[in-house]
Amino acid sequence: DWVMTDYAQEFIDRVVQQVGPKGHVIGAVSGGVDSTVAAVLMTRAIGPRFHAVLVDNGCLRKDEATKVLKRMKEDCKVNLKCVDASDRFLSKLKGVTDPEQKRKIIGTTFIDVFQEEATKIEEEVKHEGGSCDWLLQGTLYPDVIESISYKGPSATIKTHHNVGGLPATMKLKLIEPLRELFKDEVRELGMALGIDEMSVWRHPFPGPGLAIRILGEVTPERVKMLQEADDIVIGELWKSGHYRKIGQAFVVLLPVKSVGVMGDGRTYEFVASVRCVETTDYMTADFYHLPYEVMGTMSSRVINEVRGINRLCYDISSKPPSTIEWE
Ligand code: XMP
Repeated sequence: DWVMTDYAQEFIDRVVQQVGPKGHVIGAVSGGVDSTVAAVLMTRAIGPRFHAVLVDNGCLRKDEATKVLKRMKEDCKVNLKCVDASDRFLSKLKGVTDPEQKRKIIGTTFIDVFQEEATKIEEEVKHEGGSCDWLLQGTLYPDVIESISYKGPSATIKTHHNVGGLPATMKLKLIEPLRELFKDEVRELGMALGIDEMSVWRHPFPGPGLAIRILGEVTPERVKMLQEADDIVIGELWKSGHYRKIGQAFVVLLPVKSVGVMGDGRTYEFVASVRCVETTDYMTADFYHLPYEVMGTMSSRVINEVRGINRLCYDISSKPPSTIEWE
């Protein structure tokens, strides 16, 4: 795709100029399509002088940090460091049930962790005679618009708590290569850059991650349970060919137990719900008409394979009046 190849080359040329021969750039990445494309562009421009940081907040999908590390570092040659701050996040979330409180804790802890890493990198760079004055952000065109006009329940949260949303107090100048692009154009650009299909077609994932998909208190056991269920559901969507037709899909773990039967015994375990939506802009959404056979496979696999869940539901609500997330 020559349009995208040109776009990439123009960005690379401009950044090389802007940053200069001794300049370094830092950026938080999540492994989502936006930050991956931005990181790969940056790496093509200045190589290891771009420092990517992945913060593991303990509420990521199953094996996510390892997978992102592999994809970005090995496949895309991005200079990436993963910071495992799971314990720090999870201990702060202990006993917290209010969704906005969870978001706040995750948002502020994220900023603290990233800030600490940034300081370390800045010092190393300085020691070697360079300087780190730039911050990469994967802001898209709709983010620019949405932060002005959208007043949905997560409006103010999104801009502050997503991976890109770091505070202006970090005295760094911004580089935003995707600022003029829509999501589908970012995907096109990703493909033009040779990024793998799984990364390019990923659904968006909220900054607070699984913490807002575990209704009520977030505990390490519940995170584990949800990670397993989510992994099965997403895997089945890829296998059955539905993943790409869906805007967002995930599992929600409810703080409700129901009775089940296993062998001769009675079980009393958690209920989970599958949420799949069709949407173009995430401001309105319809529940996805997933075929019963796919639901059937998901349900028998989740209930048989995930300890602690004995009932699986399918969410048939649309937005509005429901939201996409449950919290
Ligand atoms: P709702 O639930 O408001 O979600 O219909 C719309 C889109 O926003 C995402 N979302 C968030 N993203 N931090 C984020 O980075 C958040 O706190 C947050 N809350 C919702 C949601 O996943 C969907 O794509």
